[in-house]
Amino acid sequence: MIYDTILHGGSLIDGTGAAVRAADVAIAGDRIAAIGDLGAAQAGSRIDCTGRVVSPGFVDAHTHDDAALLDFPDLPMKTSQGVTTVVAGNCGTSLAPVDLDREPPPPFDLLGGRAAYRFKRFGDWRKALAETPAAVNSIGLIGHSALRLGTMDRFDRPADAGEILAMAKMLDGAMREGAVGLSTGLFYAPARMAPTRELVELARVASAAGGLYATHLRNEADYLEEAVEEALAIGIAADLPVVLSHHKAAGKSNHGKVATTLARIDAARKTQRIALDVYPYVASSTVLTGDRVRNSAKVLISWSKPIPEAQGRDLAELAAERGLDIEAMCAALQPAGGIFFMMDEDDVRRVLAWPEAMVGSDGLPHDTHPHPRLWGTFPRVLGHYARDLKLFPLEEAVRKMTSLPARRFGLKDRGVLRAGAFADIAVFDAASVLDQANFAEPKRVASGIERVFVNGTCVWQNGTPTGARPGRALALDRAALDYAA
Ligand code: ZN
Ligand code: CU
Repeated sequence: MIYDTILHGGSLIDGTGAAVRAADVAIAGDRIAAIGDLGAAQAGSRIDCTGRVVSPGFVDAHTHDDAALLDFPDLPMKTSQGVTTVVAGNCGTSLAPVDLDREPPPPFDLLGGRAAYRFKRFGDWRKALAETPAAVNSIGLIGHSALRLGTMDRFDRPADAGEILAMAKMLDGAMREGAVGLSTGLFYAPARMAPTRELVELARVASAAGGLYATHLRNEADYLEEAVEEALAIGIAADLPVVLSHHKAAGKSNHGKVATTLARIDAARKTQRIALDVYPYVASSTVLTGDRVRNSAKVLISWSKPIPEAQGRDLAELAAERGLDIEAMCAALQPAGGIFFMMDEDDVRRVLAWPEAMVGSDGLPHDTHPHPRLWGTFPRVLGHYARDLKLFPLEEAVRKMTSLPARRFGLKDRGVLRAGAFADIAVFDAASVLDQANFAEPKRVASGIERVFVNGTCVWQNGTPTGARPGRALALDRAALDYAA
């Protein structure tokens, strides 16, 4: 047998958490064909990986890449970090199934403008991705707020029985077309007035199709614990896995609360299926809202339609310059996005180190001055938290970003390096891997990620995308969802 490619001489971290070992990896077509001592084997190309780690490509467990997959299909912000699969449609705001004839209201504007919202059916979005593929694989959630946008005339009330039925029908259609589950963004205006029973009814539709429920909680600040209880209750009532998005405690008076929520989740995991993702920063980022500003020690502007030059600037400084109070300055910037310094470093570490924590960037690819998590999340976990701070071993860092999310989202034959698995692979230098993006310069490419393969094809090398777009729009594989310990 002549393989297409052999990555030889590298240190293999297989993604399961097993210790690093020396092994060559052979690729044939879109799969890993062999692992071991392949010194005598033949290959079209042989890549020297001496002194480098060869690991599964990373799964970005929480993204807003629905439109970015189509708008900038090389996705250097993903591949430069070693990411090979993204989970889209988070926080209630999926692109599909929404066909808009007007500008999207916040927070839908985080995914792009009106032109982005052209997929009446989830299957249309997957079809577009099949016709014009991206560099990375994707799987999509259906946003509860998106269902409301397509069904309700106003958001400041619960959906009535007819509207719930209409949303359930849309969701059911999307699940049949391969969506992985339902997402909510209960903190945001389009969903805030939805009572728990509305969510249970929709979660039951996702459950019947074998999918999951991913949630941006109703509250991540003073009522964090209550919001976790609601999410767990929805999981039980609808009998489906719950993914708690970007777990955190926001606002100084709430710092430390994640110790309580993690203990609660640990206890609940004995009787229900729960997963959780986190990004490795003390600042959050989303649309600019007063309640976020009030919970933050500092706010940076990530974009503003009327005042584009405000991007990257400190909100308090901008207000002082213009002689405005913070509230008036916020109003002048709208519509706008912000970066909110509202978490505690100890909490970030506590959540990251929790054995069940997956890594999700929550990056916002359309922001003009994005949060650095968009370009830095995965190298930051590998370099800063695992290597430099020794929060956990490198093998554990890799597990959190590969096999763990692959099992929780049902990505069959991905997230591990073994013969027969898809050849989604990252080759990196463990000594130099590190995020370079920061709050002042958020689009800097991380160091140390040398080569990235998606379905056997190289998408990133020599610090640049190769231009290849082998990514696949994956569908829910209900048999592959795995929530065992
Ligand atoms: Zn969110
Ligand atoms: Cu999000």
